[in-house]
Amino acid sequence: MTIHHLRRDYRFGSLVRDQLPKDPLALFRTWFDELRSMDLPEWFEPNAMSLATAKSDGSVACRIVLLKEYNQEGFTFFTNYQSAKGDQITHQNRVALGFFWPILERQIRVEGVATKVDPSLSEQYFRSRPRSSQLSANVSPQSQIIPDESTLDKLVEDLDGKLQGAPVPCPEHWGGYRVCPDLIEFWQGRPSRLHDRFRYLRHEDHWQLDRLGP
Ligand SMILES: Cc1cc2nc3c(=O)[nH]c(=O)nc-3n(C[C@H](O)[C@H](O)[C@H](O)COP(=O)(O)O)c2cc1C
Repeated sequence: MTIHHLRRDYRFGSLVRDQLPKDPLALFRTWFDELRSMDLPEWFEPNAMSLATAKSDGSVACRIVLLKEYNQEGFTFFTNYQSAKGDQITHQNRVALGFFWPILERQIRVEGVATKVDPSLSEQYFRSRPRSSQLSANVSPQSQIIPDESTLDKLVEDLDGKLQGAPVPCPEHWGGYRVCPDLIEFWQGRPSRLHDRFRYLRHEDHWQLDRLGP
């Protein structure tokens, strides 16, 4: 069955250069706050983003992770440092992030350098997670081949039993990466595919702003 006919015309809004802030983080915050203020369906995760990484053989990988913090220093997500993405970031710390917010007909693209956050921050976030997630983070060999589902259940059960109710330690192999951006692009869908695209490029003391062809 062909899906050639699947196509939407975008009419929600437009971007006016003179109204864009000098700082792309300010625009990210405005857009993210606008998204969160909308009547979103319960299943929609506004902080979900794609994360693209490079492999050592030059091929690339992409997956979804959750944005857990953003500020002037960058965009933070948490993961297993020994996962495939962790290995890839160790080899090549330049990564890309992608957000798609269909309700606002918007896309945001970020490129930058990922570095591990301070362990105290990882610990702080780890403490805020449910105990079951803390146990999973300890035992799950993320991205490794495992024989079956019960293997993980058994590992969780064993650790929980061993801890006898004591706090679950934040494992060294688990924590945050912060992506410090040097490029942020904002895309607003427009009618007839004449979308608005504005790209911010970081310079030492300012962000260069350019309109790009859609
Ligand atoms: C909605 C959603 C949110 C996710 N959030 C995270 C996350 O915050 N951290 C994480 O490590 N994996 C998250 N995952 C799982 C990843 O997409 C991926 O399967 C996992 O991190 C292993 O990726 P890797 O083998 O490339 O390292 C999420 C998946 C989905 C669909």
